[in-house]
Amino acid sequence: MPYAPTLKGMSVLVTTGPTREYLDPVRFLSNPSSGKMGIAIAGEALRLGAKVTLISGPTSLTQTVSKKIKLIQVITAEGMYRAVMKKFPRADLIFMVAAVSDWRPANFSSKKLKIKKRWPLPLVPTPDILATVGRKKKKGQLLIGFAAETNNLVLNARAKMKKKNCDLMIANKVGSKNVGFESDHSRGYLLSKDSVVPFPLLSKQKLARKILKVFSKPFSN
Ligand code: CTP
Repeated sequence: MPYAPTLKGMSVLVTTGPTREYLDPVRFLSNPSSGKMGIAIAGEALRLGAKVTLISGPTSLTQTVSKKIKLIQVITAEGMYRAVMKKFPRADLIFMVAAVSDWRPANFSSKKLKIKKRWPLPLVPTPDILATVGRKKKKGQLLIGFAAETNNLVLNARAKMKKKNCDLMIANKVGSKNVGFESDHSRGYLLSKDSVVPFPLLSKQKLARKILKVFSKPFSN
């Protein structure tokens, strides 16, 4: 029997990239996420035959995304939240790879703020998109979260997985040389409800393959 992994007939939603939370027209809070991991997951899902929607925060790498992927570009956590709420009900697999800003400035000034010696910056939390989907997802929908951690990877990722009701969590090492944000490589752990599988230093492309293998099924023709 010929064997090839396939996601044919499945609808896959992926979030990727950072978000930007503006305090005035020229300054924002953000993080160094490049969007590479989510773009690799979306590309691999497409290769395996899925219908793919990619919701991306600001990154120049969206230029590399296949035209066969439905690309929705957003800027803020709030914008990403609205796009995800609209799209996730029809998705079978939901990969929340984005490095969403946890905080945004409480106030936005439409005029450029003038520099002061001290600058108290009141912040308010952004919506937790993954936790919201975790509460709302229906039977049959699988939710995959990504945890960016500098230390205690498994412990921290396990806690996030439980709190946000994910079916799978990928714990990524960040904050050291050659891995994580901006890098082409990643290392960490794949956590399911009852297993922990370490993965060594891998290209994000290879990691995307490894992750999607968990969900694809054999077919014969
Ligand atoms: N996430 C999200 N919405 C947020 C924050 C995070 O959807 N406002 C999602 C990310 O896309 C990722 C997961 O939650 O899949 C974990 O993100 P991470 O930044 O590792 O953790 P946080 O939940 O933000 O917690 P902390 O920053 O305290 O580690």
